[in-house]
Amino acid sequence: MSQVSENIYWEKGHVSRQNRENLNKHKGVVLWFTGLSGSGKSTVAHAVEEVLHQHSVRTFVVDGDNVRHGLCSDLGFSDDDRIENIRRVGELAKLFVSSGTVVLTAFISPFIADRDKVRQLLGQDFIEIYCACSLEKCESRDVKGLYKRARVGEIADFTGISSPYEAPVSPDIVIDTEKDILQVCVAKIVRYLEKRDVVLSVI
Ligand code: ADX
Repeated sequence: MSQVSENIYWEKGHVSRQNRENLNKHKGVVLWFTGLSGSGKSTVAHAVEEVLHQHSVRTFVVDGDNVRHGLCSDLGFSDDDRIENIRRVGELAKLFVSSGTVVLTAFISPFIADRDKVRQLLGQDFIEIYCACSLEKCESRDVKGLYKRARVGEIADFTGISSPYEAPVSPDIVIDTEKDILQVCVAKIVRYLEKRDVVLSVI
């Protein structure tokens, strides 16, 4: 990564993060969903967002597939491109957090080192959520038909098949998207946010 030029300064505004959080009546954090393609990251993130939104929490979902249509449309799925993808999203998440928003990111984010870098960038504001689901199950769902294409060699570097996925060692939250229904996964995350005083009582 290139160094920031010494001629670039940080422009500080008059409205602080604390001001924004006071206005919102909740904190800004990132809920970082990680897991295989088809493990339910986006589904759970959107469902959590819906519950929070209904309780006046300011939220935004940043989804891997969507970001790759714009901000990261120049990136593919080589290790280096995935590293850059996650670096950009980490920086994006940091901006959202300083705006006082609960940002929910849904990226495979396959490498521990890259997720750890985002954790370092965000500190306490980073909440890692592992969507635990076996490759067999994700592949049997194959919602987008990509696993089938990856198996016959039509898609290179496919996570879980021809590119690795490193599961988190000690994630903040683990949801078992293979066995538990959506509502159970959502409730687990929302309760965690209440316990951590990120949001007031929701459930
Ligand atoms: S990441 O590895 O860089 O975090 P990201 O979450 O942005 O990946 O994108 C993953 C999505 O891109 C998958 O859900 C899938 O729909 C699509 N995709 C296309 N090609 C691949 C591939 N080679 N490996 C994994 N996902 C792919």
